[in-house]
Amino acid sequence: MQVIERVSELPTVLDAERRAGRRVGLVPTMGALHPGHHALIQRAAAQCDVVAATVFVNPLQFGRGEDFAAYPRDLGADVTRAGRAGADIVFAPAAGDMFPPGHQTTVGAGRLGEMLEGASRPGHFDGVATVVAKLCALAGPSRVYFGEKDYQQLLIVRRLAVDLGFPVEVVACPTVRDLDGLAWSSRNHLLDPHERAAAPVLYRALRAGAASILAGELDPAEVGALVGDIAEAEPLVSLDYAAAVEAATLAVPEKLHGHTRILVAARLGATRLIDNVGVEVPA
Ligand code: PAJ
Repeated sequence: MQVIERVSELPTVLDAERRAGRRVGLVPTMGALHPGHHALIQRAAAQCDVVAATVFVNPLQFGRGEDFAAYPRDLGADVTRAGRAGADIVFAPAAGDMFPPGHQTTVGAGRLGEMLEGASRPGHFDGVATVVAKLCALAGPSRVYFGEKDYQQLLIVRRLAVDLGFPVEVVACPTVRDLDGLAWSSRNHLLDPHERAAAPVLYRALRAGAASILAGELDPAEVGALVGDIAEAEPLVSLDYAAAVEAATLAVPEKLHGHTRILVAARLGATRLIDNVGVEVPA
């Protein structure tokens, strides 16, 4: 396991790997690694010759008043976990090295970046797109791994790779959940015990939404309202949005059809959680 902290060092190390004929897999993370991240790294290790996991709490994707300062950071633990999951390299640059004074070029996530999460967190996905583009430019991976847990982010990264011509395969990995259904998230550490006990309601609400579609509900507003009502019945939950949309575009259709995604965002105390599920509308 090699830990690289200098931005200038990563291309040199990975160029040498590529010249030796080894395919590089890249797993971007913000650290506080949990089983969801481990699954991405394991998948990368199964499919690539060299796996670089990145640990970087990206200031560009946090808005004013968001939890950038409170975001959990423990590089020592992350290096151990990444190594156990199969990473060969952990890239953990300082913010001032990734985005030094004078940095001004950014990548816009476009319309996909303005809906749902983007409406609640203006500029968030431009920050994500900028750091993912830079990480791909530095690492030159054959494959880059993203979780369905952040479904909108996954779509935006797929679009970014096509639109900017990055010769990389974007690999989507299913959401990994704790035993009670709560999707693993680095932010789960920030929940107090009561909030943690309440949080699985989000997945229960999503499953109820999916079940209603399978039982014949095709009105996206009805599905969104059902999911939102179930989530909000939990007093500690303050709903941000619940929506049923076309999986490929995030557009709200008149009638649900084909690949559909149900997404939810809610605050539990000071902590904001998101989750989603996929559902195939019966023909
Ligand atoms: P982070 O939240 O650390 O997540 C890193 C990757 O792990 C993302 O692709 C995310 O979708 C995936 N992931 C998180 N929780 C997961 C779970 N429970 N199951 C499966 N995959 C999961 O997402 C980011 O960081 C950042 O926006 C980043 C892409 C690193 C850019 O800064």
